[in-house]
Amino acid sequence: MASAARENDPLFQPYQLKHLILRNRLMSTAHEPNYSENGLPGERYRLYHVEKAKGGLALTMTAGSAIVSQDSPPSFGNLHAYKDEIVPALRQLVDQCHDHDCAVMIQITHLGRRTGWNHGDWLPVLAPSPIREPAHRSFPKEIEDWDIDRIVADYASAAARMQAAGLDGIEIEAYGHLLDGFWSPATNIRDDNYGGNLDNRLRFTYLVLDAMRKSVGPDFIIGFRMAADEAWSEGFGAETGMEIIRRLKATGQIDFLNIIRGHIDQDAALSKVIPISGMASAPHLDFSGNIRANTKLPVFHAAKIDDIATARHAIAEGKLDMVGMTRAHIADPYIATKTRAGRETEIRPCVGATYCLDRIYEG
Ligand SMILES: Cc1cc2nc3c(=O)[nH]c(=O)nc-3n(C[C@H](O)[C@H](O)[C@H](O)COP(=O)(O)O)c2cc1C
Repeated sequence: MASAARENDPLFQPYQLKHLILRNRLMSTAHEPNYSENGLPGERYRLYHVEKAKGGLALTMTAGSAIVSQDSPPSFGNLHAYKDEIVPALRQLVDQCHDHDCAVMIQITHLGRRTGWNHGDWLPVLAPSPIREPAHRSFPKEIEDWDIDRIVADYASAAARMQAAGLDGIEIEAYGHLLDGFWSPATNIRDDNYGGNLDNRLRFTYLVLDAMRKSVGPDFIIGFRMAADEAWSEGFGAETGMEIIRRLKATGQIDFLNIIRGHIDQDAALSKVIPISGMASAPHLDFSGNIRANTKLPVFHAAKIDDIATARHAIAEGKLDMVGMTRAHIADPYIATKTRAGRETEIRPCVGATYCLDRIYEG
């Protein structure tokens, strides 16, 4: 690409999300590298993100599923968003990424049934209904009212910690975890006011969102990374997904969506959400683009958009606002800098072997 064309490259146009200006359209989505030390981001964790910031990335979503509650056992090295000590550790990471003009957000969650009881403090695994997740194989306890009250308060205090650490925003994880566990007929067979119709299934989500907003105020950026279609006979489809998005948008409390299509309760299903070597490129891009067109909400998305041409297409065609190239940035954190300098051919490509994912369970 000639230098004039590079100046007009859709990928390198800034993007404004609320008050936040992102320098280009490239982001790394949440992924837990299992580099945490006692649940905190130490030097290795920090340098891992700072390297991407140096490489020209606009937004790095830290953590993969930082846990808001002590009773969400950290089965893959998750950060402990419930600890006060995380604030100065994250602050250092954020400041150093900001020095390189890279925005930093964090994904927070309660893992629900997607964890093992024999991690962390060996506390019972919780879910809306006592239905086992094939991948992690715990038998969850059916969540009770007092658990809900406690976890809602945990989301709010975790949000306050993330704000105090200087993060640019929070992404709430809602696919395969506790929050969306209430949405899905596959994991919620309750007959109380948290089950049945969609209003009831969204009750816990509204409580969490309200509590977080009270905690961080209206200006702080909060979005959802959510299944918009579980693509599963046992789960919910695209129509329900769109209705959930409409209702979330109607709260006036969310600033972006990060779209997931599929379910992750077992590895075969997970490989359709995080497509592996040999599978089609960008399988859920058009689906995500449709959501952007229909909701007018800012949309992020990642799923095997592993080359610059596809990323550019996603932005140029208005399918996404921010394009996630997550494993691609694990393979080469300097994608943006190299592309801007016309050195695209020097990018070390991600081959999709996904060893990065296997190894987080080895730590
Ligand atoms: C090692 C690893 C850990 C991940 N952990 C999370 C996670 O905790 N939360 C999440 O939402 N996505 C997680 N992901 C999924 C990524 O955010 C992303 O959706 C996925 O890698 C597909 O995008 P890509 O093809 O650009 O890599 C993880 C991915 C990898 C490779």
